[in-house]
Amino acid sequence: MGPVLNKNKSAEAGPLPATVPEHLWWHGGLIYQIYPRSFLDSNGDGVGDLPGIISKLDYVANLGVDAIWISPFFKSPMADFGYDIADYRAVDPLFGTLEDFDRLLAKAHGLGLKVMIDQVLSHTSAEHPWFIESRSDRTNPRADWYVWADPRPDGGPPNNWLSIFGGIAWKWEPRRAQYYLHNFLSSQPDLNFHNPQVRRSVLDNLKFWLDRGVDGVRLDAINFCFHDQQLRNNPPKPLEHRTGRGFLPDNPYAYQYHVYNNTRPENLPFIEELRSLVDHYPGAVTLGEISAEDSNATMAEYTRPGRLHMGYSFELLSSERSPAHIRATVEGALAASRDAWPCWSISNHDVQRVVSRWGYPHSPEHLATQLTALVCSLRGAVCIYQGEELGLREADVPFESLRDPYGKAFWPRFKGRDGCRTPLPWTDAPRGGFSSGTPWLPVPAEQLALAVEVQERNPSSTLQAFRRFMRWRRQHPALQWGDIEFLLATDSMLAFTRHYKGERLLVAFNLSAQSAAADLPRVLAGTALGGHGLPEGKLEGARLTLPPHGVVYARLSP
Ligand code: BGC
Ligand code: MG
Repeated sequence: MGPVLNKNKSAEAGPLPATVPEHLWWHGGLIYQIYPRSFLDSNGDGVGDLPGIISKLDYVANLGVDAIWISPFFKSPMADFGYDIADYRAVDPLFGTLEDFDRLLAKAHGLGLKVMIDQVLSHTSAEHPWFIESRSDRTNPRADWYVWADPRPDGGPPNNWLSIFGGIAWKWEPRRAQYYLHNFLSSQPDLNFHNPQVRRSVLDNLKFWLDRGVDGVRLDAINFCFHDQQLRNNPPKPLEHRTGRGFLPDNPYAYQYHVYNNTRPENLPFIEELRSLVDHYPGAVTLGEISAEDSNATMAEYTRPGRLHMGYSFELLSSERSPAHIRATVEGALAASRDAWPCWSISNHDVQRVVSRWGYPHSPEHLATQLTALVCSLRGAVCIYQGEELGLREADVPFESLRDPYGKAFWPRFKGRDGCRTPLPWTDAPRGGFSSGTPWLPVPAEQLALAVEVQERNPSSTLQAFRRFMRWRRQHPALQWGDIEFLLATDSMLAFTRHYKGERLLVAFNLSAQSAAADLPRVLAGTALGGHGLPEGKLEGARLTLPPHGVVYARLSP
């Protein structure tokens, strides 16, 4: 084909086309992640809450997403900001009430949004009544509900297992003269899933929310439920392999292969049990957060029929942004499981915001939109983290304002997760319109220029570009449900096709800040598809020429 012409400009307005019936909403679905503490505070206590979310559901629906996933809002002492749960069936008063949740659910459903909640099964808070009882002595009815072990003869911990948040994974309990296991903070003791009563109780808690009408669950650290009952030591990892997801090589956690403290074979029958429960609720979906040594193989194993619907991949949350890495990740996931619908994300509440992580010091403004387009053009569902639609960069939170214990432990080399958790700026007023009180984390002054209200007024803003792209994507079934075939990955360029029911689209990205050209393995002819709103390159024969952070979307001739 010649230079890209034939623009399709009809993408900007009008109702969203309905999902093709043979596809379930989550196949290629878009899930918007809400971190409730930082979304919108309705009562001036400085912490976001459920009423705050309710008041902005129209905004979320208008982004063109299918679903929301809300990070934990359950009763919690907030040592890990909600990922340490003290009562699985109660809303923490900081966030509101169960009635607020029911209102949220009803309003979301009225807007056509599915609601997914976060379930943290592998560990509880140390303040959970189960743990308070379990730790009291060695003979109480819940004595075996957590992972208790005797010290070594020298008093040391039972084995070499480590906590992701730094240091040994065992904490001493004087009442029992024993250690308990914690894969995360010491205030997040690990439940003993080998005990059938524990499995039954956590599934009962899950049932409570399914009965309330949630459309799905994101399963936190789901491969951490079981541990090796023999407590065998993890093998050491050689220096050259000490790269990890979510932790730096200077975290001792990087020094081991985590083969005995997580991803144990017993997890699989438990997941099947969980899936049979969820299958009683037609349409409900499970998305498992899986951080394992061999991510693709584990995702494939965990998403076989009868197990989880989707696996949440960590691979694109790393600092590695090369086209070759993206290609290898997606190809690897699909090679491991041909029919899988993986779930991709490039930002979340645990990692540096993508514009800072994958950007360059002088990246153009449309970088954020290009990265959104990229992740939403891969085969699979996508989780989009609040603020991604605004193109927010990582906030620089000063040490005095840090809240994340993980950041405090590893500062200054690793500053923790507060930089991606600062409150969403809604207006350019001093607290970003987030709260009338003092926000729990500072609202960075430099983010006020990117506030929602400011971007609403600017037709060429990242927010407007995000909406335009999402509406445009819905007009192209191949981008939602098509097979994917990679054509090239150079230093700067990534190109692939998406193929659906006789339609074949070429998709190409230049991920660098300079113009770039590359030759596809074969000559392709087709018609450019405009209307996506990104700077366009061209395809001539086999040659792709793209402007900095540019794209090509073209319908290929049969
Ligand atoms: C969550 C983290 C949390 C950890 C422990 C994760 O994977 O995403 O935010 O700290 O689980 O629950
Ligand atoms: Mg509040």
